[in-house]
Amino acid sequence: MLVSSKRRRGLVKRGALSLLIAVGLSGCGFDTTQSALNPAGTVAQIQARMITSSFWIMMVVSVVVFSALIVAIIRFRAKPGQKTLPPQTEGNNRIEFLWTVTPAIILALMMIGTINQSFVLGKIYPASQALQVDVTGHQFWWQFQYPSANITTANELHIPVGEKVELILTSADVMHSFWVPRLGGKTDLIPGRTNYMWIEASQPGIYHGQCAEFCGTGHADMRITVDAEPPARYAVWVQSMTHPVSVPPKSSTLAYQGYLDFASAGCESCHTIGGTNFAGAVGPNLTDLSDRLMIAANLIPNTLANREAWIHDPQAVKPGALMPNLHLPSNEVTAIATYLGTLK
Ligand code: CUA
Repeated sequence: MLVSSKRRRGLVKRGALSLLIAVGLSGCGFDTTQSALNPAGTVAQIQARMITSSFWIMMVVSVVVFSALIVAIIRFRAKPGQKTLPPQTEGNNRIEFLWTVTPAIILALMMIGTINQSFVLGKIYPASQALQVDVTGHQFWWQFQYPSANITTANELHIPVGEKVELILTSADVMHSFWVPRLGGKTDLIPGRTNYMWIEASQPGIYHGQCAEFCGTGHADMRITVDAEPPARYAVWVQSMTHPVSVPPKSSTLAYQGYLDFASAGCESCHTIGGTNFAGAVGPNLTDLSDRLMIAANLIPNTLANREAWIHDPQAVKPGALMPNLHLPSNEVTAIATYLGTLK
């Protein structure tokens, strides 16, 4: 008796521990800033609805199946003193029919719903119906181009709220995957191929995302920010991007020095800044940089100290970053970081 209650307690403890480990490993959390279950746009809402409806259908199936199992275990267990097997039956056409047809109907209904929504989600909207944005994946940052406004920017995608945005996706090097969970599912960016996805934010806000296809050392640090703005504020952004403030006046000594150093240090051979003759096409376009919340593909906040740290030694900030360490003296680093902070 003593042994069995000890064993029972052991079992309970082990059970509780396994449950705890299972919950821990499942990655359950309450942070919904990057959760597909907390949708903020039409596409994500459709997808979340599909996830929750299949979840509840499966829950009903589980409850029915496990209830039947428990009833069978209790009702048909060996009675005390029973020595012989109960009468053995085999094949019950009615039950066989029921458990073949019922799952088939459930799966067919789910399939019809899924195929139906696949057409909605897979639609490619032309320029007359959606804002077109060309998205190019790079190791390890994002390029966003708006052909209609002749804008190129990096890492922070600005979109107007309540408007469809057609993303035209490709890659400059290896495979990447665009994923902003609160706005929609993942779509791969493949070199030499064009993929399409559309998104539509239903409320203004900052939505975080992440490259979702392993693309090298900097993969985990290849982040996306989507800034969904009311149309009027979005128009202001377009205006600032197309009329950038890029050359500081000579009176702002340090920023102007940074402007000169940006060219002499060779930064211009990789980066474009609208409104100047810096037109490198290798690295992110830096036009309007002071308006970005983050730098280094949304890894660190856009502060003077962080810009300095980044220019001083990019690999120390973001391992695997392809921006070279130019070993610039710290006065030049400060001047360039100050200049970049004036780009509006
Ligand atoms: Cu780009 Cu992972």
